[in-house]
Amino acid sequence: MAHKKLKRFAEIATYPNVFQYPENIKGKWHTVFENQNPVVLELACGKGEYTIALAEKYPGQNFIGVDLKGNRLWKGATYALKKNLKNAVFLRTQIEMIAGYFDKDEVDEIWLTFPDPQLQISRAKKRLTFPRFLREYRKILKKDGVIHLKTDSPDLYNFTKEVIGWYGLNVASDIADVYAQTKIPEDLLIKTYYESLDISKSNKIFYLKFSLPENLKDDDKEFYRYLKEKYATYEKA
Ligand SMILES: C[S@@+](CC[C@H](N)C(=O)[O-])C[C@H]1O[C@@H](n2cnc3c(N)ncnc32)[C@H](O)[C@@H]1O
Repeated sequence: MAHKKLKRFAEIATYPNVFQYPENIKGKWHTVFENQNPVVLELACGKGEYTIALAEKYPGQNFIGVDLKGNRLWKGATYALKKNLKNAVFLRTQIEMIAGYFDKDEVDEIWLTFPDPQLQISRAKKRLTFPRFLREYRKILKKDGVIHLKTDSPDLYNFTKEVIGWYGLNVASDIADVYAQTKIPEDLLIKTYYESLDISKSNKIFYLKFSLPENLKDDDKEFYRYLKEKYATYEKA
């Protein structure tokens, strides 16, 4: 492993604001932050631009950046330590396991910032807005807690709209081209590392804000069959 990566891994192991696969933390985040303020997650946070920028902007809320990759978390965590930003911490784990780290209703909001679009239909179940993930979020998110998706991928945006329609999610905002808006919502102006890479070359940033019904049906097999039929042909074309 590269020297820089090893150094970062060694550093985050000593950081008080990085929790790596912690045990027995469920229901105890208020003791980490030493307050009862709302808790907001940034899933697939990478270097944690949203976690940091929102924590600076909203000192009355707590932010937790979640990612698998310790060397990426290092960046946001180092910044938060240097700035003594007490309302931003990082959780290193797999998002598949998120419900193991939070109690029911412990989370107020979730941001999904430029998650991998997993373009092939065979990988659709790995998309962070696939219903099996939404069901995990449902376990920890307050009743009307919102989920924000910001992406440069038209495929992930359209796929998420399919999920919204199929599973009856409640849409609060749907913007197909953020920077074409005359009045851009302020929180959407925060730029992440992947936004700057413009990998999808779509020249657009898409945004969806939605909440989940109390009971999210498990219609996944049927839904996946529908996706395969509709998009496999499209993939081959
Ligand atoms: C495309 S990057 C986006 C990073 C950041 N949000 C940005 O916009 O710059 C996707 C991130 O998701 C993380 N990731 C992907 N799948 C994950 C999973 N199952 N659990 C935790 N993190 C995951 C990757 O490590 C990576 O940092």
